[in-house]
Amino acid sequence: MRTPQLVAVALSALLAQNGVSAKEMVPDAATSALYDSGVIHERLMAKKHATWDRQRASGAMNSSQYQSYRQPGAGEFSAQAFVPCTNGVATVVAGNAMQTFKCKNIDYYDFVSHANLGSRTGEGSSSWGWTSPTGREFVVIAQADGAAFAEITSAGKLVYLGRLPQASGAATSIWREIRGYKNYIVIGSEAVNHGIQVFDMSKLLTANPASPTTYSVTADVTSVWNGLPNGRTHNVVINEEKNYAVAVGAQPRTSTCRSGLIFIDLVDPKNPKTLGCAAGDGYVHDAQCLVYRGPDTRYVGRDICYGYNEDTLTIYDVTNKNSTTIISRTSYTGASYTHQGWVTDPMNQQFLVLDDELDEENRVGPAAQGRPITYFWDIRTLTAPRQTGYFRSSATGIDHNQFVVDGFTYQSNYGSGLRVLDLRSLPTTPTGASVTEAAFFDVYPEDDAQGGVVDFVGTWSHYPFFKSGYILVNTIERGAFVLKRTT
Ligand SMILES: *[C@@H]1O[C@H](CO)[C@@H](O)[C@H](O)[C@H]1NC(C)=O
Ligand SMILES: *[C@@H]1O[C@H](CO)[C@@H](O)[C@H](O)[C@H]1NC(C)=O
Repeated sequence: MRTPQLVAVALSALLAQNGVSAKEMVPDAATSALYDSGVIHERLMAKKHATWDRQRASGAMNSSQYQSYRQPGAGEFSAQAFVPCTNGVATVVAGNAMQTFKCKNIDYYDFVSHANLGSRTGEGSSSWGWTSPTGREFVVIAQADGAAFAEITSAGKLVYLGRLPQASGAATSIWREIRGYKNYIVIGSEAVNHGIQVFDMSKLLTANPASPTTYSVTADVTSVWNGLPNGRTHNVVINEEKNYAVAVGAQPRTSTCRSGLIFIDLVDPKNPKTLGCAAGDGYVHDAQCLVYRGPDTRYVGRDICYGYNEDTLTIYDVTNKNSTTIISRTSYTGASYTHQGWVTDPMNQQFLVLDDELDEENRVGPAAQGRPITYFWDIRTLTAPRQTGYFRSSATGIDHNQFVVDGFTYQSNYGSGLRVLDLRSLPTTPTGASVTEAAFFDVYPEDDAQGGVVDFVGTWSHYPFFKSGYILVNTIERGAFVLKRTT
């Protein structure tokens, strides 16, 4: 029964469950069954398609119109080395509202459009980075028609080097997710027949920016893993310490692994191998898999995955890839589409931050005002995680992906841009009452006049892990920005 009425009934049931304060909850079986059916995910994807169809129709997806800071062929970099955030704005072109970005404590170093990053289609999504043994910083920028490669120079300039198109036999798709494994990147897509591409980033060490290379999807890749049910996966997750990747959200949900965690051995990246899967809680939208280092002595040294499973935070013991166990499965006030999250410290796993992608749209729980909510979880007891509090952004928008670096969480919040929260107070104040917004850079001025929009526009992803402090931000419509926190 995949009817709109059923969705409406389920969502009003969710609404009715919301109390005043955020709290963990035992998942409701009927609600979980609805999520397991895929109907909520299909509805979410349909909403995104509607937004992107509208953006295409209006011309907003034509990335050529967004002038790169340094036009290729024009020679010199733009007059200013970087554009500082001054009095709450980074003014790239004076008098041009579309080139004036609201900000706090983050400066602008570069922007290159998808067109200038070699894409015919544009439509950006994921991104990742790789630091070479000598410290050069390379990035991968997902677009509907492949992955663009670039280097961020010591001056913070983005230099296009080439690209890897989507896998042979697969259609273009905005859903292209990329993660790093040692000197490789691993690429999955929601396109049927895509499989998982493994590419050796050290090829870029000899790339020539004067003649960007389109790498062959057969001859130049390390491998393509075709063990997915129909080649389509929502995301890829890496446990580098344990030498494996995980395909999450691989369609269809009716397959043996039920779109759960599909483990792929990467010991030999030329020959990825199936290790088994965790079907126990059905569809996994995103996950983080780590060797457990934390206060729950029962699990020290075990291989743990924190799963973001649409209506629950689900914690797995995946030490044995062929017989995984679920340690706990927990929902929370306002749960609408549990999307992604990250532990605040992989070396001491006591807390994690979680983002929900539909609570702002559904206007439920703490997100009733349409402002992005960062949910704080105390995971000191893996069998009984506690949702201790949340941070409500002052901006209007939707939260999407976040990664924690040194106690700060860096978030891609669609139309409200890159947001940085200072989480260092969480261990002493788990409610999050002392969490503050340390910095932001709003890459989507298009919605400023309206005070922000709850919509799937602006930034999809970012990569905040470079030693230099440069942060790559990939946007859906424009292209990629290089930003840096003000020092
Ligand atoms: C895209 O934008 C560029 C620059 O504004 C323009 O020259 C081109 O005609 C546009 N392409 C389409 C298909 O509208
Ligand atoms: C685990 O399952 C995979 C895939 O079914 C299989 O290839 C592998 O041999 C199994 N490993 C063990 C240790 O049972």
